[in-house]
Amino acid sequence: MDIALFSPSSLFAGSDGNSSEEENTETNPKFEERRHQFPGMELLVREFSFHQLNANLLWPGTFAFVEWLVQHRSWIGGRRTIELGSGTGALAIFLHKSFQLDITTSDYDDAEIEENIAHNCQINGVTPVLPHIKHTWGDAFPISDPCWDLIIASDILLYVKQYGNLINTLSFLLKSYKPKASEAVSGKNDEQNGTFFSLLVCFAKIIVHVWYG
Ligand SMILES: C[S@@+](CC[C@H](N)C(=O)[O-])C[C@H]1O[C@@H](n2cnc3c(N)ncnc32)[C@H](O)[C@@H]1O
Repeated sequence: MDIALFSPSSLFAGSDGNSSEEENTETNPKFEERRHQFPGMELLVREFSFHQLNANLLWPGTFAFVEWLVQHRSWIGGRRTIELGSGTGALAIFLHKSFQLDITTSDYDDAEIEENIAHNCQINGVTPVLPHIKHTWGDAFPISDPCWDLIIASDILLYVKQYGNLINTLSFLLKSYKPKASEAVSGKNDEQNGTFFSLLVCFAKIIVHVWYG
């Protein structure tokens, strides 16, 4: 597994950029619950001290993405959504709580990430917890007949050597797209009604939007 070739510690408040500090799980507590401000609400997010794929912390790009999504609410409303690389699950929890979005989290096939997202759902009052899919990009997708209208992702483009695998996963999801039954019958398929399949990716505060209809 290729991991990020830099220490992300400099991106986070309270860090001096010394990677040995964050990787020292002997002296640091394994988990810490931190309060994060989102538009209109505060979320408690359990972050853990180290994860080789950086799924442990809530990445700062999330807040730029959230701001953009709040301003473009109509782009996500009513869409069956999957998030790739959910990490702590905070973005999905916010969107579910704020917009009642039907959202599934997903991340690397790792029980610790899955358990942490479930924990973060529970401490923020999201019960039952959000559906979660353990999926390592490029591997066979665990659901043969997926039915999402929208893929979102925040800060997942740092793994350059994983781009091929990520594209394979995206291709599978795009090709499997089927409009909701009611829309297929009415033939509705337009941007305003949100029946195109689309992809929204935020990376370093740049938001990329791809339509696929
Ligand atoms: C930089 S973190 C961002 C996490 C979260 N989106 C955020 O903004 O706080 C990147 C996420 O992508 C996931 N990831 C990295 N490589 C992956 C792979 N090959 N398959 C699935 N997920 C992967 C990591 O586990 C991690 O949760």
